[in-house]
Amino acid sequence: MIDSAALIEAARAAASHAHAPYSRFAVGAALLLTDGSVVTGANFENASYGLSLCAETVATASASASGRLSEIVAVGIVGGRMGERDTDPIRPCGRCRQVLNEAAQIGGRDLAVFCSGLGGGEIETHRLSELLPHAFGPANLGIGGHA
Ligand code: THU
Repeated sequence: MIDSAALIEAARAAASHAHAPYSRFAVGAALLLTDGSVVTGANFENASYGLSLCAETVATASASASGRLSEIVAVGIVGGRMGERDTDPIRPCGRCRQVLNEAAQIGGRDLAVFCSGLGGGEIETHRLSELLPHAFGPANLGIGGHA
């Protein structure tokens, strides 16, 4: 049984490292790996706005850079306006769903996706396959995992 509350807390801690001076919207993501370890990321904005990276993408790239892309089993995501106590859950943007799908397919498992607000609130539980049905991925190119 995955400890979704612990994963969301890790995401909330990661959000404190958001570099988001332009949107003032902090996002944290925490990836649970098969051995129980956690890899985190926060959104990383750029003065050239369109170059900004989402928290889920930063975390997934970090796991990949450690050689652990195939070990991701779940992701916790929180977001909200800096300095506020937003409790509405945020769900991953479309691009991040596709980025997470790379890990899901390479690892050969659907991902649990837990979503909450930066300031607390309910934890929603989703599956990546529900958030991104009929995904295009590495299996379509004959590489790794499952379609
Ligand atoms: N953001 C994320 O980090 N993840 C998402 O799934 C949605 C949006 C970031 C991007 C930008 O830095 C800020 O939130 C406002 O869009």
